[in-house]
Amino acid sequence: MGIIPSGGILNHFLEAYDGIGISRHLTPERNKLQARVAEEVLVLLEKLVDDGYILPKKGSYLDAGCGTGFGIPVFAEYIYRMFGERVTFGIDINKDSLNEARRLWKKLRSHYRENEGSNSISSYMLEEAQNLASFDSDEVRFSEYVISHIRRKWEELGEIRSGIKTKIGKQKDGILEKLVEEEAKKRNIVLNDNKLTIMGLSVEKKGRDKTPYARRPDFALIFTNQVLHWLNDKEKSKFLEKAYEKSKFGAVLAGNISSIGSGMPLIPAYLKTLEEIGVRDITSNPGGYLRHAYNTNPIGSTRERDIRQILNESGWYVEEGYIKTVTTEVKFDDPIEYFRAAKEYGRRAFEDCFGDAYRKDKSHQDRFWAMFEENFRKMLKDPDNPLFANYIPKDMGSLTWDAWEEGTPWVYHQVDVIFLAKKQVIN
Ligand SMILES: C[S@@+](CC[C@H](N)C(=O)[O-])C[C@H]1O[C@@H](n2cnc3c(N)ncnc32)[C@H](O)[C@@H]1O
Repeated sequence: MGIIPSGGILNHFLEAYDGIGISRHLTPERNKLQARVAEEVLVLLEKLVDDGYILPKKGSYLDAGCGTGFGIPVFAEYIYRMFGERVTFGIDINKDSLNEARRLWKKLRSHYRENEGSNSISSYMLEEAQNLASFDSDEVRFSEYVISHIRRKWEELGEIRSGIKTKIGKQKDGILEKLVEEEAKKRNIVLNDNKLTIMGLSVEKKGRDKTPYARRPDFALIFTNQVLHWLNDKEKSKFLEKAYEKSKFGAVLAGNISSIGSGMPLIPAYLKTLEEIGVRDITSNPGGYLRHAYNTNPIGSTRERDIRQILNESGWYVEEGYIKTVTTEVKFDDPIEYFRAAKEYGRRAFEDCFGDAYRKDKSHQDRFWAMFEENFRKMLKDPDNPLFANYIPKDMGSLTWDAWEEGTPWVYHQVDVIFLAKKQVIN
């Protein structure tokens, strides 16, 4: 089919959107990593289409853990080309990323309208910030921004109705509603049995405060790029099971997850920091105390066979040829870029072991992150120091990293499992 341009999707992204300032919002190296692995997911989706697989009709599309990233500017365009217009939802735990995504999306939409005279991407609904493990699968969680937009539309409708009522006097309700509907249509307000229709969703009022409410349509496609590893094992299963319940038979879940070898030497530096602040003690208790409180590998690197098993146990079936492990090499001008990205994306996962007191006290948090960064830099420079080997989690085997010299660029290796799984059709 040849959906992916020969120069790769990152170049497409940079070229296509440079003029509108979208590419400037993200640092190229971070982009490169996310684009490379997103591209691998696209390869599997393209194979699926070439194999003649047809996605369930009308099912919606979920970008699980959308961040500000590729689901917005690039991926949505490919999805549109492969699978046509779909009601599309973006969910993420980070409010700031969602706000950024909202700004990017607005720009992108007007870019398409102006340049191509159409929406050649599906409309995209960015929801209120939610954890994927506990996202509301039945109800669309409108963001404040969308709620106020809907409320304004409702107010406008009320004004239209009372204006027409004054004009036509006492008439049968049917006539009034017909006139209201016609007038609303002129102002781009779609009425459907007194409900508003927004992006194909039928929105009603719910409860005393008349909060806009819409039932979430079932998914046909779920895309998740560089996200699932930030969920611990329980959370991963919770999300996958929910996603399964809310999907149509024949739906597809395509994405990636970081695998063993990623996160060096971030993870050992993290464990060393936990020891220094007293959460963990590897000398008297190598397993660490409060062991239940944290994850020894918060960048939840998962092996191919393990993610296949988690997917299968949640109902998602992985066929032969639809799962692979790939390594991506990225050169950062300074390792701090990588550290900052991990802090932004995985903050919650790294801070999992701390109590509420920590969360309320900014100076505690700053201290922890400063120590963590310092340990990361120390380990980077001296990978052969035998002391550091103690901090590599046992289930990760003997991992090493390349030494780094202050002031020089740093080459990072990210290992990912790329997968595509189906909700099987029961015959
Ligand atoms: C590496 S970024 C990837 C973003 C986007 N998918 C892309 O390809 O550009 C990881 C994203 O996962 C989100 N995330 C991490 N844990 C999450 C959770 N438990 N629920 C929802 N989103 C989460 C982060 O906020 C971040 O936006």
